[in-house]
Amino acid sequence: MEGVISGTALVASRSAAVAAEVDRAFDALLTVPDDPRARLYEAMRHAAIGGGKRLRPLLVRAASDLFNISRESALRVGLAVECIHVYSLIHDDLPAMDDDDLRRGKPTIHKAFDEATAILAGDCLHDLAFQLLADEETHPDPFVRIELVKALAAASGPAGMAGGQMMDLEAEGASFDLATVTRLQQLKTGALIAFCVDAAAIMARIPSEGRTSLHGYARDIGLAFQIADDLLDVEGDVAVAGKALGKDQAAGKETFVSLLGVERAREQARILVQQAKAHLHAHGTQADLLRAIADYIVERDR
Ligand code: IPE
Ligand code: IPE
Ligand code: MG
Ligand code: MG
Ligand code: MG
Repeated sequence: MEGVISGTALVASRSAAVAAEVDRAFDALLTVPDDPRARLYEAMRHAAIGGGKRLRPLLVRAASDLFNISRESALRVGLAVECIHVYSLIHDDLPAMDDDDLRRGKPTIHKAFDEATAILAGDCLHDLAFQLLADEETHPDPFVRIELVKALAAASGPAGMAGGQMMDLEAEGASFDLATVTRLQQLKTGALIAFCVDAAAIMARIPSEGRTSLHGYARDIGLAFQIADDLLDVEGDVAVAGKALGKDQAAGKETFVSLLGVERAREQARILVQQAKAHLHAHGTQADLLRAIADYIVERDR
């Protein structure tokens, strides 16, 4: 059935379903208490519910489809990685970092609430990620749960997203070469995207030597994703993207686009998508959603 519908339609229908599940789950997890912590929960809800492409939970689901992982396990791991992603966005938007007022078409958390609440809401989403992974509802095998926790911690910390954010701050006014910008992007964005695919292999208990092609797919789409983000920053539409654009050049930040120019950066992203799909050659129609996500990543307008 999936072979006869277009990749675009497949991504649209599956991502709408995943987004609805993610919203429902966050709504249930983040019940606002009737005490002085209410403001913190309201801020977490503002950040986590409604909006966003939910690409990371969709990727966990798509990779889980290869191994017949249950929908519940894939959803809970998808929620965990979305928690880390949303926390990273809250902190990325703070005045101390990118100082942005708009995120997912809404005021950023420090604008809708205040800076202290935004910092705490980010902290709590970070904590919720690991609480979700450690719970036995995520996977019955405690060794699998520990491996998930270790992998998400590695993808989030100094050897992952946070390390990439540090490099990104250092990129302002620096003259990084292509190899350094590639490493920056792999950490800042690629590590969490790679976790989404790795998590499915961890849940399926695939030994590391059996994960090579999925690693290759994840590395290539991660880089393509960040090139697309940098291209959107240059030529996207604020109303569609739901966030401020034109920020990288204004900050004097070295990106793929500043180094290669728009045309070569776009070409590079397309080559990466072809490479990503080539890594899936041994998989049949079960990998169709992963293939369609690779195409979507560079075709997206938000
Ligand atoms: C934006 O991520 C920040 C980067 C890592 C480049 P997304 O483009 O996935 O943002 P949402 O989740 O759709 O809002
Ligand atoms: C932020 O990168 C990536 C993370 C939050 C880890 P950007 O600063 O480029 O993201 P946008 O463009 O604000 O979404
Ligand atoms: Mg930033
Ligand atoms: Mg930013
Ligand atoms: Mg950006």
